[in-house]
Amino acid sequence: FPFDISLIIDSLPLLGIGALVTIEITAVAVALGTLIGLFVGIAELSRYWYFRIPSKIYVDFIRGTPLLVQIFIIYFALPIILGVRVEPFVAAVAACSINSGAYVAEIFRAGIQSIDKGQMEAGRSLGMSWGQTMIHIVIPQAFRRIIPQLGNEFIAMLKDSSLVSVIGFEELTRKGQLIIASTYGSLEIWTAVAIIYLIMTLSITRFVAFLEKRFK
Ligand code: ARG
Repeated sequence: FPFDISLIIDSLPLLGIGALVTIEITAVAVALGTLIGLFVGIAELSRYWYFRIPSKIYVDFIRGTPLLVQIFIIYFALPIILGVRVEPFVAAVAACSINSGAYVAEIFRAGIQSIDKGQMEAGRSLGMSWGQTMIHIVIPQAFRRIIPQLGNEFIAMLKDSSLVSVIGFEELTRKGQLIIASTYGSLEIWTAVAIIYLIMTLSITRFVAFLEKRFK
C-alpha cells in the first residue's frame, strides 16, 4: 500500500496548530473543571440537602449522558432557549469544563472521604469550624492523594476533547479531517493524528509521575 510520508511532513504545521488548540481547550477545561469539581465535591458531602441534592443531580446527569450529546445540547439546543448563538470555542470549553467538573467532583469527594475522620475531629476540637478544617487540614491532604486521578482525568479529557470536532471547532481531530478532505490521505493523516495524541498523553503521564514524586 502507498504511504506518503511527505504528506505528513507537509501537514505538520497545520496539525501542530491543531495540537496546540487541543492542549489549550483541555487545559482550560480541566482547570475550570477542577474548580467546579472542588466545590461540587465538597457540596456532595455537605450536611445540608440543598447543597447535596443539586450536586448529586449535576454529577448524575453529566456522567449518565454522553459528552457528545452534551456538546450538541450546548451548541445547538441551548441557543434556542437563550436566544443567543455561542461560538464553537465557547461551546466546546463550556461542554468540556462542565463535563470534567462532574468527574473531578467525584475524585474530590472520594479523596476527602479517604482522609481519616480523626483529622476533622482534631481540627474541630481545636476550635476550627467545619469549613476551616476542610480548607486547612482535610483538603490539602486529600489533594496530594488525588493527584494521580486528576492526571487520569487530564489524559481522558485530552482524548475526549476530540468530540468537539463535531461542532466544527478546529482542534487536532478536526484539523485532520480538514486536511484529509483536500488531500485524501486518510492513512497518513490519521496515523499522524494518533501519534500526536500519543505524544501528548505520554507527556502528561510523565509530568503527573513527576508531580506525584514532588508532593510525596
Ligand atoms: N467518554 C465518556 C462520555 O462520552 C466520558 C467523556 C468525558 N470524559 C472526561 N474525562 N471528563 O461521556
